[in-house]
Amino acid sequence: MKILLIGKNGQVGWELQRSLCLLGELIAIDFYDTTLCGDLRNPDGIAETIRIVKPDVVVNAAAHTAVDRAESEQELSYLLNAESVKVIAKETAKLGSLLIHYSTDYVFNGAGGHYRTEAEETNPLNVYGQTKLAGEVAIVSNNPRHLIFRTSWVYATRGANFAKTMLNLAKQKETLSIISDQFGAPTGAELLADCTAIAIRATLKDESLTGKYHLVASGETSWYEYAKFVFEIARSQGEELLLKEVKALPTSEYQTAAQRPLNSRLNNNKFKKAFGVELPDWKVGVERSVIEILGK
Ligand SMILES: NC(=O)c1ccc[n+]([C@@H]2O[C@H](COP(=O)([O-])OP(=O)(O)OC[C@H]3O[C@@H](n4cnc5c(N)ncnc54)[C@H](OP(=O)(O)O)[C@@H]3O)[C@@H](O)[C@H]2O)c1
Repeated sequence: MKILLIGKNGQVGWELQRSLCLLGELIAIDFYDTTLCGDLRNPDGIAETIRIVKPDVVVNAAAHTAVDRAESEQELSYLLNAESVKVIAKETAKLGSLLIHYSTDYVFNGAGGHYRTEAEETNPLNVYGQTKLAGEVAIVSNNPRHLIFRTSWVYATRGANFAKTMLNLAKQKETLSIISDQFGAPTGAELLADCTAIAIRATLKDESLTGKYHLVASGETSWYEYAKFVFEIARSQGEELLLKEVKALPTSEYQTAAQRPLNSRLNNNKFKKAFGVELPDWKVGVERSVIEILGK
């Protein structure tokens, strides 16, 4: 089996390189690739890549993920998150390949306090959410053999991440103010990659599993509680922090270019039932990641 991974160097893409190579021959590209086009700004080039590789499975982990910048880079965001995705969907459909794609809780408006199911109505609040939703629609209309995983608050040990930023700030400042009224589940890129491999394997055996899934760690937290958990783990590992006080900050007091949903809770029951897996509580992965970041 041949798998084409687009966006091999992102948070999720990097972990997918590890988990997908267990399934078959993996061809992993990113947008700096010189032999095969992996640049989502060039839909024709991406189409050509798919025609050359003729993969059985395409996993697209590349995207325009800068939520605030998307407000001023609307065209680029649409090109990467929707137009190119449509081309990928059409090319994979021609070959009969399975297409795996990631989307976001930002396709919803975040009203209420419940865990949203896949069946709920979408209504994005920002450009990033609108373009990601357009990408989902393009896949559903062009390649029925797809798995779309909506996830939230993704972190990885490699590269920049929330825990690293918080730990650095906690070493420099005595007081931090952190948003306390946005709720969701921090979800590790490792977990997403492993679940993706399991889901591909199962779907290739049972076509009825294709479709859209909410794929997030279990439980919920706010950015404020998430940060406090990071500090608690760091201190339990003997890390010295200057930080004395963490203040809860409402979203209304923190200006950003893009409006964000307050309720990012996603119901992950459909994924667990379809693929027969447990999705651990968010604290399990975050604790591991903090210990790894600290090099303990
Ligand atoms: N991060 C989150 O919190 C989050 C939440 C919900 C859903 N998701 C979705 O999950 C998926 C994976 O996200 P992630 O967290 O792994 O994001 P990420 O770390 O930002 O990775 C995205 C990758 O796409 C690459 N990219 C940017 N422009 C490109 C282009 N023109 N052509 C090809 N590749 C390009 C980026 O390269 P550079 O880094 O060099 O720019 C990066 O390697 C995405 O579909 C995202 O929308 C993410």
